[in-house]
Amino acid sequence: LVLVIDFGGQYNQLIARRVRDLGVFCEVISSTTPIEEIRAKNPVGIIFTGGPNSAYLPESPKIDPAVYELGVPVLGICYGAQLMAHMFGGTVEAAPVGEFGKTTTYFDTSAPMFAGLPAENIVWMSHVDYISQVPQGFTITAHTDNCPVAAMQDESRKLYAVQFHLEVNHTQNGNDMLKNFLYQVCGCVGDWSMENYCEIAIEQLRQKIGDKKVLLALSGGVDSSVCAALLSKAVGRQLYCIFVDHGLMRYKEGDEIEEIFGNMDVNFRRVNAQDRYFAKLKGVTDPEQKRKIIGEEFIRVFEEEAKKVGKVDFLAQGTIYPDVVESGLGGQSAVIKSHHNVGGLPDHVDFEDIVEPLNLLFKDETRRLGTLLGLPDFLVWRQPFPGPGLGIRVMGEVTPEKVALLQKADFIYREELAKAGVDKGLSQYFAVLTNQRSVGVVGDFRTYDYTLALRAVTTDDFMTADFARIPYDVLEKISSRIIGEVQGIGRMVYDITTKPPATIEWE
Ligand code: XMP
Repeated sequence: LVLVIDFGGQYNQLIARRVRDLGVFCEVISSTTPIEEIRAKNPVGIIFTGGPNSAYLPESPKIDPAVYELGVPVLGICYGAQLMAHMFGGTVEAAPVGEFGKTTTYFDTSAPMFAGLPAENIVWMSHVDYISQVPQGFTITAHTDNCPVAAMQDESRKLYAVQFHLEVNHTQNGNDMLKNFLYQVCGCVGDWSMENYCEIAIEQLRQKIGDKKVLLALSGGVDSSVCAALLSKAVGRQLYCIFVDHGLMRYKEGDEIEEIFGNMDVNFRRVNAQDRYFAKLKGVTDPEQKRKIIGEEFIRVFEEEAKKVGKVDFLAQGTIYPDVVESGLGGQSAVIKSHHNVGGLPDHVDFEDIVEPLNLLFKDETRRLGTLLGLPDFLVWRQPFPGPGLGIRVMGEVTPEKVALLQKADFIYREELAKAGVDKGLSQYFAVLTNQRSVGVVGDFRTYDYTLALRAVTTDDFMTADFARIPYDVLEKISSRIIGEVQGIGRMVYDITTKPPATIEWE
């Protein structure tokens, strides 16, 4: 295990990513984590991240100096480098010239971290402070034209520091530098794999749960599905999966979920709560109101079903690693957004403890685990689907008839995108049933039917998004099929707005 200690930098998750991609398991922890906890994790290497502060100011995040006594190699990056220099008595101050972006750097390739690399290399810099004088015992191992200490080391104490960000792609050979640190300095072998993660996770779950009961709200999304599959392998029918079908799923999706989990070694229960939801949503047109109703009704139905299971000991949640980090580590990392999907815990379900078996995995790792556990591709590669489902894709009042129209149209849309092979390049795509009717002519008759909007976006983080350039011939096929096959839809439009200013969903 390698520990990444978070000082609030924007690339912290990326560092964790890079370490894991090199086959070394790692965890990000807050810089305020007590030293006993750090010691108990028994790391073989520690990495200090960057951060926005100045190491020499009293209010800036610090680290217990005992971390250097653990006998574990430490690598400081950017702020982490400056903090290390400051703590050992070097000088850190505002640089006369800050460096931002690609910067030519000159390396001492006899230093272990830079072994086998070219002596001149482009790196990614982002700093206003710099180390003007290294502490005693340290030597300079890289410099730039404006930065006398772009890297330093004290081999005897196994302390290493780089001013630049070796974790970003713009740093040439950054991955090799990290590899040198992990393999040569820390002695890692890089044999961490999803298979052994899975084995260890199952064993740990068995130990924690024993012969007790676990309850899971299964939504059919990637995270809760993988969570269910993993728990099923660990404790079988001690797992109670409750799937609340609110009637706002995509076409036949509820049946697909039942088919998979009904045949798995778990206690699976599908609650058909469609009528309850539609009754509650009758006459409601405001999107936030709809969200609130759907969320509250979910908690209510879930609690009722949970009661039938009797006393449960554990509540399982499919929280994945980015949810944990985005919600703040309780340390320096800023809360980026409070997560959409974390809808709060039910109040009236009695449980002793929570199990979150995926909380160390990134999304793509979660998918790999799902495949390893035998889940089908359509579940594992499912695009994000909002908790309120089609309730926020039927604009205005939600009725069973409108939902049925949208389900059919959305199914055809997805089917045609898949046929054309266009779906793989898209981050999210769906149809929206607008509240707008428009005049048409079919045969000799005048029609006055709904307008359907198609949305397809590409994005890395769902905070910003671009609309996808779907070829016209594919759109044409989709349009003629939907208008021909779904009675009630008379006009189709394609959404060409980016986010911002528009959001991805229409409501
Ligand atoms: P927006 O529409 O805000 O969507 O650009 C960003 C991402 O979040 C999803 N989304 C939701 N997910 N409950 C959810 O669980 C919601 O109420 C909700 N609203 C939007 C959306 O599908 C997209 O992936």
